[in-house]
Amino acid sequence: MTDTASAGAAPEGGALSNLLHETRRFDPPAELAANANVTADAYQRAADDRLAFWADAAERLTWTKKWDQVLDWSNAPFAKWYVGGKLNAAYNAVDRHVEAGNGDKVAFHWEGEPGDTRTITYADLQKMVSQAANALIELGVQTGDRVAIYMPMIPETVVAMLACARLGAPHTVVFGGFSASALRDRIQDCDARIVITVDGQYRRGSQAALKPAVDEAVAECPDVRNVLVVRRTGQDVAWTDKDLWWHDVVDRQSTTHTPESFDAEHPLYVMYTSGTTGKPKGILHTTGGYLTHVAYTHWAVFDIKPETDVFWTAADIGWVTGHSYIVYAPLINGATSVMYEGTPDTPHQGRWWEIIDKYKVTILYTAPTTIRMFMKWGAEVPARYDLSTLRILGSVGEPINPEAYVWYRHNIGHDRTPVVDTWWQTETGGHMISPLPGVTAGKPGSAMTAIPGVSADVVDDAGQSVGNGQGGYLVLTEPWPGMLRTIWGDDQRYVDTYWSRFPGYYFAGDGAKKDEDGDLWLLGRVDDVMNVSGHRLSTTEIESALVSHEKVAEAAVVGASDETTGQAVVAFVILRGAVPKEEAQGAELVKELRNHVAHEISPIAKPRSIMVVPDLPKTRSGKIMRRLLRDVAEHRTMGDVTTLQDSSVMDLISAGLDSAK
Ligand code: WTA
Repeated sequence: MTDTASAGAAPEGGALSNLLHETRRFDPPAELAANANVTADAYQRAADDRLAFWADAAERLTWTKKWDQVLDWSNAPFAKWYVGGKLNAAYNAVDRHVEAGNGDKVAFHWEGEPGDTRTITYADLQKMVSQAANALIELGVQTGDRVAIYMPMIPETVVAMLACARLGAPHTVVFGGFSASALRDRIQDCDARIVITVDGQYRRGSQAALKPAVDEAVAECPDVRNVLVVRRTGQDVAWTDKDLWWHDVVDRQSTTHTPESFDAEHPLYVMYTSGTTGKPKGILHTTGGYLTHVAYTHWAVFDIKPETDVFWTAADIGWVTGHSYIVYAPLINGATSVMYEGTPDTPHQGRWWEIIDKYKVTILYTAPTTIRMFMKWGAEVPARYDLSTLRILGSVGEPINPEAYVWYRHNIGHDRTPVVDTWWQTETGGHMISPLPGVTAGKPGSAMTAIPGVSADVVDDAGQSVGNGQGGYLVLTEPWPGMLRTIWGDDQRYVDTYWSRFPGYYFAGDGAKKDEDGDLWLLGRVDDVMNVSGHRLSTTEIESALVSHEKVAEAAVVGASDETTGQAVVAFVILRGAVPKEEAQGAELVKELRNHVAHEISPIAKPRSIMVVPDLPKTRSGKIMRRLLRDVAEHRTMGDVTTLQDSSVMDLISAGLDSAK
């Protein structure tokens, strides 16, 4: 069965109705609720007049010309928000805070992997961004030109993005771990004329060069005029006649620059994300609506108090989570953030907790896959540090299984902190479905309800809203300010991918279920939903069951084609460190785990096979690459592994399979 075919079948019945019989509830802490930025009435206000609600939210920004109309949906699905409004994104993120007397406030506590640190205030940022903007002007960058940024987690990455935004030159940030060919495709697709990069970055204690990939990519991009190179590691780099050192060009520029205002719908950035076909989609975000959406959600979902909070999104700027919640939202809201260059286990497994302890972080935002990795390393690691400043924990990127949620809340949040499980996508720009920490009683594993001003529903194959207790496809039934405006250069693909499956609704590509209270549980991508003997099974549901077993640290489940049942469940598990080696390889354990799944969900969900593996293949944004595991499960030749974080993982898994035969 192909992905498309499985996505077309009715996502109801079977074991889905047994999903996650989870009864734990965590009320908001009283003090947080009493002082929360957003209270329950926000839902009602938004329901009464959604556009008035979003007009209010846009007041978080400074506009040089106010909009005439909140939303123009007359040419749906091509939206225009805050029509006629004008503003500058970088001015909103930086200058206005300096003008308000907050120039000395720390914007970023930056921590390099080797232990070097930088403290960057809003006043510093204003100077740095102005200099970079002046440098880009010198290099001929004009409003509307695209600039590609291929950088690691250093302050200059933020500066480069804001300098582009200041000039109205859309940036396209390509994650620093992508290959030269991926970079080349993205530069070519959006026709970028300038590339900003570094010599290298620190990764797991050593220097990892980035510039060679740029050299290789740019050799096939004749329209790129210049490559601006930040010196981070000082390692040797090859030099071409297009290359310029950042410190030669930027440092001599004036530290002032007067920002120009742009239309609310002026393109802010293009972020590439993978679709169901091989060609990545360039997701276009524009200025006024996107900034309103991320600023509002950062304030509402993280309850941000810019005077006292220290906020940390532990993600890479190369992904949308970094764009929205490391760069734009925290800066628009005038917050202080932590930014960390390296990996969580360098030089030791307590690095993150040490950083939280050191900077007194109050809000941490990360992904379930990382939480499960910490679970694997053991609760005694975070227990060595003072995490008492934390008051809210966030999760994003995939459904969080209840075990990971509870572990996170208990071992990191010490049972004091709400966990906000935020569902959203590159395409949505910002949070869409999430608890509000001062309002919602959280259920482990549920993203709960659409935030105020957002309308989500779960529909069946025919596009009809399903009842409580039923599953189906997640849709968004009204446009929202942070929505993508199109796929860069491909309006038709935008319409086909998102707006054609259920006319009038945005099709998110995720399966979801409404529980008996009508709260939402995300079930993973619909192309990851399996159909076994006519029963709909969610990969997430089975993974969650496996991880709830005391011996399992992490699990990935795929549907492999099967002659009799259509698809069969194949599971890959990583065991917890404490399981003895003889036991880890034994048939007894596999039997135990299969029975556990049968017990937790249904005998239908029992994996056909379970493979104990040392690691799982993940994309650099932390998503498990089920496609590759499916190839292994079906004994096919392995697909493209270029976006894998560590491609040797697949060799290890295949070797393990061979020896198990
Ligand atoms: C998944 C990341 C369940 C989902 C911001 C979505 C989630 C895709 C959650 C988008 C969550 C993200 N619960 N699933 N809290 N957050 N997802 O574009 O499948 O990298 O469609 O954006 O991640 O991934 P993207």
